[in-house]
Parts: sequence; C-alpha cells; structure tokens
Amino acid sequence: MRWLISLVSFASLSTCTNFPWEKVQLAEKDIYPDVDFGNTHGARYTGPRCKIAPGDPGWPSEEEWDKFNQTLGGVLLKPVPPGAVCYAGDYYDADKCNYLLTRASGTRFYSDDPITVLTDWVAGNTCPVSRNPAGNCTQGGFPVYVVNATTVKHIQLAVNFARNRHLRLVIKNAGHDFNGRSVGFGALSILTHHLKEFEYIPEYTIGPYTGRAARVSAGIETWELVNYMDKYNITIEIPGGDTVGAFGGWIAGGGHNFLSSVYGHGADQVLAFQVVTADGRYRLVTPEENGDLFYAMLGGGGSTYGVLTSAIIKVHPPTPVTTVHLAFHVGSPSSTIKATETFWSGVWLYQSLAPALCDAGATHYSYVRKGAASNTSYTFDVDFHIPFLTPPQITALLTPLYTSLNRLGIPANLTTIPPATLPAAGTRPPKTGAGAAPGNVYFASRLFPRSNWADQAVYNTTFAAIRATVEEGGFTFHGVNFWTPRAVAGWPGTRNSIAAHWRGAIMHADVFDDGFRSLGVGRQTPEEFWERHGRLERVMKRVREVTPDGGAYFNEADVLEPEWQRAFFGEGYGRLVGVKRRRDPWGVFWAVNTPGCERWAVEEGRGLPTQDGRLCLTGE
Ligand SMILES: Cc1cc2nc3c(=O)[nH]c(=O)nc-3n(C[C@H](O)[C@H](O)[C@H](O)COP(=O)(O)OP(=O)(O)OC[C@H]3O[C@@H](n4cnc5c(N)ncnc54)[C@H](O)[C@@H]3O)c2cc1C
Ligand SMILES: *[C@@H]1O[C@H](CO)[C@@H](O)[C@H](O)[C@H]1NC(C)=O
Ligand SMILES: *[C@@H]1O[C@H](CO)[C@@H](O)[C@H](O)[C@H]1NC(C)=O
Ligand SMILES: *[C@@H]1O[C@H](CO)[C@@H](O)[C@H](O)[C@H]1NC(C)=O
Ligand SMILES: *[C@@H]1O[C@H](CO)[C@@H](O)[C@H](O)[C@H]1NC(C)=O
Ligand SMILES: *[C@@H]1O[C@H](CO)[C@@H](O)[C@H](O)[C@H]1NC(C)=O
Ligand SMILES: *[C@@H]1O[C@H](CO)[C@@H](O)[C@H](O)[C@H]1NC(C)=O
Ligand SMILES: *[C@@H]1O[C@H](CO)[C@@H](O)[C@H](O)[C@H]1NC(C)=O
Repeated sequence: MRWLISLVSFASLSTCTNFPWEKVQLAEKDIYPDVDFGNTHGARYTGPRCKIAPGDPGWPSEEEWDKFNQTLGGVLLKPVPPGAVCYAGDYYDADKCNYLLTRASGTRFYSDDPITVLTDWVAGNTCPVSRNPAGNCTQGGFPVYVVNATTVKHIQLAVNFARNRHLRLVIKNAGHDFNGRSVGFGALSILTHHLKEFEYIPEYTIGPYTGRAARVSAGIETWELVNYMDKYNITIEIPGGDTVGAFGGWIAGGGHNFLSSVYGHGADQVLAFQVVTADGRYRLVTPEENGDLFYAMLGGGGSTYGVLTSAIIKVHPPTPVTTVHLAFHVGSPSSTIKATETFWSGVWLYQSLAPALCDAGATHYSYVRKGAASNTSYTFDVDFHIPFLTPPQITALLTPLYTSLNRLGIPANLTTIPPATLPAAGTRPPKTGAGAAPGNVYFASRLFPRSNWADQAVYNTTFAAIRATVEEGGFTFHGVNFWTPRAVAGWPGTRNSIAAHWRGAIMHADVFDDGFRSLGVGRQTPEEFWERHGRLERVMKRVREVTPDGGAYFNEADVLEPEWQRAFFGEGYGRLVGVKRRRDPWGVFWAVNTPGCERWAVEEGRGLPTQDGRLCLTGE
C-alpha cells in the first residue's frame, strides 16, 4: 500500500491522525475563555513574575477546576505522593505503607502512579516512603493536578488552560527522566503514559524511505515493543530498561540502543509524528511539513516545543544479535590476575579497539569499578552486542582482543559464541514490564570523540582520565560504545538535531557517583550535597579536559552540567532556541536545561537543583 498518497493529501488538515483517539479533538462547542486556543503571532507571556501556584490569587478556584474537569470528561486527577500513606493524617494506611515498603517495586504500582518518577530526589524528597517517617508529607516538587490523557482533546485542553491561566505545565510519560523534567512544583501535568496503541505497517513510503514502519502512541514502553517485535517478527530500536518510555524522553533526547552502530539512534527512527503545540493546535510533523519541529523535537530535548501524541517509526527486518560477555577482575581472593597494572592494561586494550568493533556494527556497554574495601581491587565487565555477524565472523572480530588479553595473563575465552537471538537481544516475551521503583542515582555524562582514538598518544591521555576517575574511588565508569555518523543514521535522521559531537562520538560514558544511591539529594543537607558534587565535578573536569570536542548526553546527565547548552546541543543550540521562541512565545512549556529555558528558573528555597520551587522569570 502506498501510504505516501494519504499522507500528502491530508498533510495540511488538522484531522490527519494515526489513531482513532487522535480524532477526538477540541471543538468550538467545548471552548470557553480559559481553554481557548492561542495565536503565536505577536504573542508573549503576560502573567505575573512567577507562574501561578496554589494559594496565589490567580490560582483557579475549586469551581474552575471542576468546570475544567467536566470539559475533560472527568480525567482530571489530584494525586498525593504515594508515600502519604506512611504519614499520620488523612491518607495514613498502615497496610498500603507496608505494601510500598515490601512489594510495590516488583509490580506496576510506581509505573502507573500518575506523579511518581524514578528519580526520587528531583521532587525534593518531601514524602519519602518510610516505616518511621520524620516530618510531614508534602507535595513538594510533584505536580498538583494531572490530566490523564487518552485523547488529543485532553492534551489541547491542558495546554490551553495552562497557557491562559499562567500555570506551570509539565509532561510526564514513563517518568524515567533523571533531571526532574517530568515533575514541577505547583504544576498541571499532562500524563501520556496511557497512550498505548501500536500498528505495524508492512510497507510505508515517505520521501526517500520505503520500507517497514509502525504507528506508535506516545506512551509505549520498551517491554511492550519487545512483545510487538515478537508478534510481527520485526526489529525496532528500543531503550535499555524495560519500562523506559520509547517515544517520550528517549527519542526527544537522542536515544542510544544496542543496535545504534547499525541503525543510528532512537531519534533517527522517526519518520513523522503528531504534536499539540503551545497554541493548543494539533499538527502533523514530517521532515517537510513543520520541519522546524521535526528538527527540534528529535534530539533537541522534548518537553518544551509541544506534546507528541504518536509517531511513525522505521521498523527493521528481524535482526539477529549475538551478545558476548567478557569480565575480569583483580584484587579479590578469586582473582587470577595478580597485578593491578595487568588489569588496567586489559581495560586499555578493550577500549582501544572500540572504533574497529563499532565499525563492524557492534555496540557495547561496559562497567569499570573500584572495590569498596581496598585500593587495589577492580572489576571490569562488558556486553558486546553484535548484530548480523556469524559465529566465525565474531571469532575473527574478537580474537585480536582475546589473544592480547591472554598474552597479558588475563583469562578470557572465545571458545563458545552464544547463539544470536531474535528480536530483542535475549529478552523473551511475553514481558510484563513489572519492577520499576524510584531510586536516587546521580551521575554525569561525557561524549568521547572518535578523534580521541586517532593516535596512541591522544588515546593514552584519554585513557589516563578514565583510569583516574575510577581510581579516585566511589565512581563507576559506564561506557557505551557506538558509532552513529549521518551515514549510519540515514534519512531522515540527517534532518534531526542530534549534535555533530554525538555523530562524531565513539563513546558515551556515565560517571556514577555511587554514594548518592543511598543518600539522595534532599535527604542530605545542602552542604553535604555541594561537597559531594564538588568531588564529581573534579573528576568530570579531568574527563572534559581530555575531550574538548566532546559534549554530554542530555538524557543521562548531571542537571548541573556546566555550559549545558553547548554540551547537550552543540552547534544547533541557537536554531533550537529559535524554534522554541517561535512555537512557544508564552513559555507554556518549561523543563530544566532545554533550549530557551534560561528565561525562567526554579526558585528552590534550599539551594538544591530540585524542581521543588516556584518557576519564575529571570529577566533574561
Ligand atoms: C532504567 C533506565 C534505563 C534507561 N536506558 C536508556 C537507554 O538504554 N538508552 C538511552 O538513550 N536512555 C536510557 N535511559 C534514559 C532515558 O532516555 C530518559 O530517562 C528519558 O527521559 C526517558 O523518557 P520517559 O518518557 O520514560 O520519561 P519521562 O520522565 O516521562 O519523560 C522524559 C522527558 O520527556 C518529556 N516528554 C515525555 N513525553 C513527551 C511527549 N509525548 N511529548 C513531549 N515531551 C515529552 C518529559 O516532559 C520529560 O522532559 C534510561 C533511563 C532509565 C531510568
Ligand atoms: C474529575 O471528575 C471525575 C468524574 O466526575 C471525578 O471522579 C474526579 O474525582 C474529578 N477530579 C477532580 C480532581 O476533582
Ligand atoms: C507537621 O504538620 C503539623 C500540622 O500541620 C504541624 O503542627 C507540625 O509542626 C508539622 N511538622 C513538621 C516537622 O513540619
Ligand atoms: C488513567 O486513565 C487510564 C486509561 O483510561 C486508566 O486505566 C487509569 O486507571 C487512569 N489512572 C488513574 C490514576 O485514574
Ligand atoms: C521472521 O522473518 C525472517 C526474515 O524476514 C524469516 O526468515 C523467518 O522465517 C521469520 N520467522 C518467523 C517465525 O516467521
Ligand atoms: C586508599 O588510598 C587512599 C589515598 O591514597 C588512602 O587515604 C586510603 O586509606 C586507602 N584505603 C585503603 C582501604 O587502603
Ligand atoms: C575456557 O574454555 C575452556 C574450554 O571450554 C575451559 O576449560 C576453561 O575453563 C575456560 N576458561 C575460562 C577462564 O572461562
Ligand atoms: C600508550 O600506552 C601504552 C600502554 O601503557 C604504551 O605501551 C604505549 O607506549 C603508549 N604510547 C604512547 C604513544 O605514549
């Protein structure tokens, strides 16, 4: 079937949709002043210095919220943080609190909770789940109202209401953002989590692309895509964690995947999408139609140009992937490696081969850690994901590494290559997506340019910074090696805003500050936080110094990344700000470290980088 024809002929009509629920749109009969559309022409923000929050004179009255809820057909929620059941007061419930403490993390409870996000500290830790809670539970940085969207109309109403009433607005999908972009003090939230439809299209044509495709709703998670891949015998690029939203934050920020070196990043998979913009209008976005949004919303950060409701994505033939695991360690009783220097030579060798392995299509995820108890124990492990290659080809590819490791005295075996799996690298359906629970990770990111591997001297300098980071103690170095230049991305990946330093990187690395896992910003005093953050900054400074042409990955970054504009968006930053200003002159959408966000800042009373504070104009 030639889908191009229908796309072109309906392109200019706002009724063009992927799914029936998208045909349910805001109509004239539902409109009253608070929910009327906006017009970007000559528009600007006309509200008070800070977005209106509960208690302010301009905050909508109960009657106004009720009217809004009626217009929404009753999908307005006013949720309290789940932990409220553990605190004395109206919500106290010992059984429910016990459930949260003992069993909820293995269920869909947190994924389906309308306000919970998987990084606790970003909302200020004002209501932690606890058997013996100290203090009171407050809403903190969590939004006050949530529109539980199942139609385009719900989203249009929320955008218009927030814009007309000068309310803070956030978008939450699967809640995996690490920097607090899906929460906000005093906010109205649009929940896209329940938009779940999927439709496989065996043949689809748009521009120069002809091939398999799928229509996907914004709320689909990784595990659901794994099941569709199995059902239709196809391969789709998916995020790493089972419950990550594939078409919310992942594609908006770029999105790496174990097939990145052959198919490009998550953003590169998108052929077209539908969006509600800041004026409340519903639009089709393709490389040609509303091309500024196509550019900005794929790689330029999401959450700030509009609300994506569905997309059409590339689907690949079933792609066999072999996963080879390699691990070695030194300094523990079971270690066969005797010298710390031998360990580091092994890691040096592994990392030195990244360009050759990625050129062969591999993408690999590795971890280098220092033992907690001694200064001389270290562990290394990696999963090589190798698509398409046969066992003899894999043997040929990896033998130079394994032989060199063996020569150093590092035991490593290539005798049995595990069988390739379809379609999702070893995960077998039906998967249930259970098991997401909030935590408190804190880390910083760096994109390492391929040019840092160009000769041994520069590679050695690069490697010395990696080694020093781990030797410092308390940090895990998590490297993701891929190679995704424009040629790998293909059309229309060439039209999106993934920065040149992403395209030229051979590694994205997360440097985890392991101490944060148990502490969490907000549970620490601000002094403790800033002292600890200073340590992370010291090691990151060394890493940045050896990668002056690098950057950082927006989706897996320190919220305090210095010069984040250049680090995340590179040369495209000015163009992205232009799209933001043109499409959203009111500043309806705001999320931390997104293009143009400098006009506003969160006034957080404790001086911590959380979202627990009013959003106010900065005067910039
Ligand atoms: C366990 C885990 C595994 C991960 N694995 C990977 C991985 O393998 N590769 C990788 O690249 N990243 C990975 N990430 C990072 C991931 O890409 C980001 O956390 C991403 O923000 C998740 O998107 P979400 O929709 O689930 O989260 P949310 O927090 O709901 O949304 C993220 C951001 O996108 C915005 N947004 C959401 N939906 C929409 C929409 N429909 N329209 C406009 N804006 C929207 C939100 O406002 C928010 O700013 C992982 C994260 C976790 C927690
Ligand atoms: C919205 O309306 C529905 C249906 O009448 C009701 O169940 C829900 O509690 C209302 N939401 C709020 C926040 O009042
Ligand atoms: C908790 O709330 C109660 C009732 O509002 C108040 O009296 C008390 O001081 C609060 N406790 C703390 C630690 O803020
Ligand atoms: C949100 O809407 C979905 C779909 O209608 C529904 O399954 C879910 O229970 C709703 N969530 C809440 C908290 O009401
Ligand atoms: C899946 O597709 C591949 C190639 O397109 C084909 O060889 C294989 O037989 C199919 N498997 C099933 C179970 O249909
Ligand atoms: C590790 O090294 C640091 C600095 O060299 C030292 O202060 C610390 O005591 C050492 N720890 C152990 C367990 O040997
Ligand atoms: C390597 O493989 C051989 C033969 O399969 C096996 O005897 C040996 O234990 C393996 N060594 C390691 C380090 O796994
Ligand atoms: C780089 O480091 C390796 C391993 O330590 C060493 O053998 C080599 O001589 C170094 N090369 C340069 C150019 O410094």
